[in-house]
Amino acid sequence: MDETKETFDPERARGVFRELLYIHTILRRDLDRVAQLAADVRAGYPVQGVVDTVRDLETNSPLWRLREGCWRYCRILHSHHTIEDAAIFPMARRKDPSLNRVIDKLEEDHLIVHHITERIAALATAVSTNDTFETRADLVGALTDLESHLLTHLAFEETSLGPLLSTWNSWPED
Ligand SMILES: [Fe+2]
Ligand SMILES: [Fe+2]
Repeated sequence: MDETKETFDPERARGVFRELLYIHTILRRDLDRVAQLAADVRAGYPVQGVVDTVRDLETNSPLWRLREGCWRYCRILHSHHTIEDAAIFPMARRKDPSLNRVIDKLEEDHLIVHHITERIAALATAVSTNDTFETRADLVGALTDLESHLLTHLAFEETSLGPLLSTWNSWPED
């Protein structure tokens, strides 16, 4: 079994880690739909079908939008990473300096994921306005990259920060 796909049960977690797992669960759940969308684009699903699927996602999930700038999913992901970068990581560094190198890596992951989501936003618009084999292949590539990088990142973050964050029952003092 691919352990990056493992679903964590937030009920089992404690403290700030529980909050982190809650949002990770939502991000993972909607990544399944990202993977399905990539498969549809690869299979030559009509563009209108892609747009309809995204509208459906928009209606039935709090997370999606294909065009109009950035996708809602990307924005939620971006806000989550911004909170980690601005608050959780600096506090974790202060509380346990042995995590510095791990957190350096997590911050690098955030940048990589951010660049991928920017590519997706641009390519989603490109496929809608210029439906060619190349634009579709590029969009499939970007969606697939998001899935693999994000799943790996979420799993690494949980493994490396879970023990510390589980001890924070409220926001720690400096
Ligand atoms: Fe993260
Ligand atoms: Fe996270």
